[in-house]
Amino acid sequence: MSHRPTNNQILPQKSEDTKRGWKSVRASWMARNTFNPIRNIVDNMKLIPNPDKKMIALSIGDPTTFGNLPVCDEILQAVEKSLKCQLRNGYSPSMGYDDARDAVAKHYSTPTSILTAEDVFLTCGCSGALDLAISVLAGSGDNILVPRPGFSLYQVLAHSYSIECKYYDLVADRLWEADLLHMESLIDSKTTLIVINNPSNPCGSVWTKEHIMDILKLAEKYQLPIVADEVYADFVFEGEEFHSFASLSSIVPILTCGGLTKKYLVPGWRMGWVLVHDPLKLFNLEVRKGLQALTQRILGPTSFIQGALQSILTHTPEHYFKNSTNLCQNNARCCYEMLSKCKGLKPIMPSGAMYMMVGISMKNFPNFKNDLDFTQNLVTQQSVFCLPAACFQFPDYFRIVLTVPEHIVREACERITEFCKQHYVDINNNNNNNNNNATTTTSNCNGCSKCNNNFGNDENESVKLKDKKMKYEVGSVIINSSKRINDVMEDGQQMLNDVAKHSTDGLHEKN
Ligand SMILES: Cc1ncc(COP(=O)(O)O)c(C=O)c1O
Repeated sequence: MSHRPTNNQILPQKSEDTKRGWKSVRASWMARNTFNPIRNIVDNMKLIPNPDKKMIALSIGDPTTFGNLPVCDEILQAVEKSLKCQLRNGYSPSMGYDDARDAVAKHYSTPTSILTAEDVFLTCGCSGALDLAISVLAGSGDNILVPRPGFSLYQVLAHSYSIECKYYDLVADRLWEADLLHMESLIDSKTTLIVINNPSNPCGSVWTKEHIMDILKLAEKYQLPIVADEVYADFVFEGEEFHSFASLSSIVPILTCGGLTKKYLVPGWRMGWVLVHDPLKLFNLEVRKGLQALTQRILGPTSFIQGALQSILTHTPEHYFKNSTNLCQNNARCCYEMLSKCKGLKPIMPSGAMYMMVGISMKNFPNFKNDLDFTQNLVTQQSVFCLPAACFQFPDYFRIVLTVPEHIVREACERITEFCKQHYVDINNNNNNNNNNATTTTSNCNGCSKCNNNFGNDENESVKLKDKKMKYEVGSVIINSSKRINDVMEDGQQMLNDVAKHSTDGLHEKN
């Protein structure tokens, strides 16, 4: 007997064995090769908060988490109007509605890069834009250049398409500019594009015009198109200036990926776009058609958000943007001031986006193996969770999210300071900590894995703490508990898993 599917294709006869007991069904190659390194890292961390301290998660790159950055009325009204008119309940064209594409084109045109609706492809968030831009230019066996430290989605997408990532270094001491010599050394005959991210997650850097021009020169020399992740476009601090790659390129073709997510503070609305900037029309032969074809795999963003786009882009008041960038700038200053005083830490002042990187002089913290161990113990002892920069392929740093209310940032920095004081060792004097306290590091420590004083593993400690009332706060969620300590530890772990699931930004970092 043979199985005949509807297309009349004849499948081989199933053996008696298979009929009786199915073997487990295999996932596709792509599914098996899609994973986010952040999940691997965060899931393997033992994130057990100190039950005496409210949890502070400085890891969540979602500006809506703490409720301190509400969406302004103008944006809400635009969406309300779009919904109520009942004209945007149906399927949109795969590339997006013409009026919405036109609105984006007008808004992002510059004197040196004039866009029309044809140059805009609406996507499901900036993630969708990156997927489209990378997959239209690169395929199996190719390689692409991506920043290190960098947003992990580039790697996730590339690997799932069997594209190799080559990492070019960003240099902390040069305000996270790309090391161009290193970048150039990575280019070979299989290199198909350069991904840049400006302003940067996780660095918070905003590149100068000159640096962008230097990257463009390199791209021109090797005839490489650029995928410019500019999801933080315009999200820069006072006194800083954002230059899009497209506005400075008269030759190099660029696919700019952006969206409403960050500047407009609505990551859940999943409104993104690819902008085609192609002064020499090098994309006309295949790439534009390719973009169009790829949008037909699945449709883009929700119709009624597209319906609101024109109004959102033209009517959102300037003070709405100022409010969020000022908050991040003030928080950055606060963190910078406080953490600069911490022996063993080196905060790098950002110029934009929502993040700040802090270097850890690991040799002065011999209690900890690496940034993972350091940040894990920061949770255990101080209930502060910062993302270890191993998540961005860049060890010995951690990343702080700056969209948090200022009093929380301050409290977090105080706790980080205390933590560093307890664990810092002056390796030259063999003296520990900022207090000039000559006792061993374990004496101050209330729970690191190296001190044999880890309450998570210490039954006596568990007994002492068992009846305490616990209070955790993650964003607007507060968990009160008077359970046994071990149960609370489990709650804490579960909660941190939840935090970790939302720990950075968007779907790719939530999974
Ligand atoms: C650098 C960078 N690119 C892209 C994205 C994805 O944006 P979206 O949430 O619009 O998909 C993020 C999200 O945090 C990001 O940080």
